[in-house]
Amino acid sequence: MWEQSQTPLFSGLIRHAQKKPLQFHIPGHKTGRGMDAEFRDFFGETALSIDLINIGPLDDLHHPVGMIDAAQRLAAQAFGADYTFFSVQGTSGAIMAMIMSVVGPGEEILVPRNIHKSVLTALILTGAKPHFLQPEVDLELGIAQGVRVETVRESLNRYPNVKAILLINPTYFGVSMDMASVVQIAHERGVVVLVDEAHGVLTHFHPDLPQSAMDAGCDMAATSVHKLGGSLTQSSVLNVREGLVKARHVHSILSMLTTTSTSYLLLASLDAARRNLAMFGREQIERALHLARRARERLNEIPGIYCFGREILRTSATHSFDPLKLTVHVAETGWSGYEVETHLRAEFNIEVELSDLYNVLCIVTFGDSEETMERLVEGFRAIAKEARAASRSPKRIFVPSTPVLAMNPREAFYADTEVVTLRAAVGRTISDMIMVYPPGIPILLPGEVVTRDNVEFIEENLAAGLPVQGPDDPTIRTVRVINKP
Ligand SMILES: Cc1ncc(COP(=O)(O)O)c(C=O)c1O
Repeated sequence: MWEQSQTPLFSGLIRHAQKKPLQFHIPGHKTGRGMDAEFRDFFGETALSIDLINIGPLDDLHHPVGMIDAAQRLAAQAFGADYTFFSVQGTSGAIMAMIMSVVGPGEEILVPRNIHKSVLTALILTGAKPHFLQPEVDLELGIAQGVRVETVRESLNRYPNVKAILLINPTYFGVSMDMASVVQIAHERGVVVLVDEAHGVLTHFHPDLPQSAMDAGCDMAATSVHKLGGSLTQSSVLNVREGLVKARHVHSILSMLTTTSTSYLLLASLDAARRNLAMFGREQIERALHLARRARERLNEIPGIYCFGREILRTSATHSFDPLKLTVHVAETGWSGYEVETHLRAEFNIEVELSDLYNVLCIVTFGDSEETMERLVEGFRAIAKEARAASRSPKRIFVPSTPVLAMNPREAFYADTEVVTLRAAVGRTISDMIMVYPPGIPILLPGEVVTRDNVEFIEENLAAGLPVQGPDDPTIRTVRVINKP
């Protein structure tokens, strides 16, 4: 019986590498000997010695019966799931598998409008019909929050054929909704509850964080271990609670979407991150929470900027907040979030998670220390002073209206289209997705009717220098719209 203090996969790989078997299999670099020398020296032979592939002794992610199976079972135990499947294609891959395993062409699913682009990809791949749940929007800060339980209940009444609901726990900016109540009303109707938990890997490991999807009784959660939990970039898990969904079916869909050349570095890092979270997560998160609390207090002493805390929940008493997300609202300075981000980079060598027109998001984890937090606060202090000296008028918060979905995203994606200028697209049904990445939340989805304020919002983001993406035309001067019949 394996214990949480052990790492069956990581340790198994090390044992295998120590035997130094003669390798006549891929990867062709063969522990680094067959690769560019500078890269090999930089990367290090130790890491390269476990950059291996699914040969007999090392198990197979697509059909795990040995060390990968043991590592996934330990992860399930650690996350409070019935089954945990490792993803080497990030949470994006896990989200697509989760959705594809529960809805097919024409079947109905409730999704918040502030979805990540991988949800849209799954909608296009499946041909499922989305009904959007409008999240609460904080009009003073320009930030979309969680969806109210009442909104879910009303939508379930309005669309009785819905098969699944997707929730976000928490949003990029740290707001979680009351998932347990949604589970109750959804399960009464046999509706499956799926969760995008890209930013929620720590939730299960500390009581002061919002509840985890598994703890709330949700059926599946796609969770980025790499974002906050200490594994290598791109490694995530798909947690499954059996009942309304069948774990074997979910696994077969995840396997369909996954490369056959799975990276053992990523897999081993998931095994090790799980051990760390299970053994030391609570105390490490405690420390990070303390650092974030202190930094938030100090940031809020700086005139002109505002780092919100739990008071962001004023509009919805049942939401909860993850204090490890430090969102600094800078609109009062008259500078955009992006300007502050670029100044932090240029003047202080500080890189943040993202910025938008009004906010800068900084992620605090147990990788932080008093020293890193001090540098961050001092960076903001100096930039706020610089911004005050520039005496610009505060930025007006602009939240565009939500466009109407006139066509299923899959139909719009595959429809006959013509290319028009962005401005000429007003009133037309768009075939492209347009978003700012990060966070990757669409401003427009395929099938939506473009409004004038959508276009103005896109133009404002472009003018601010923010990374607007999506259409074939990277300048976003032109977009594809559906041909008129
Ligand atoms: C809300 C949300 N969901 C899903 C994802 C996708 O996660 P990953 O980058 O692990 O594929 C992201 C990534 O930023 C995200 O912000």
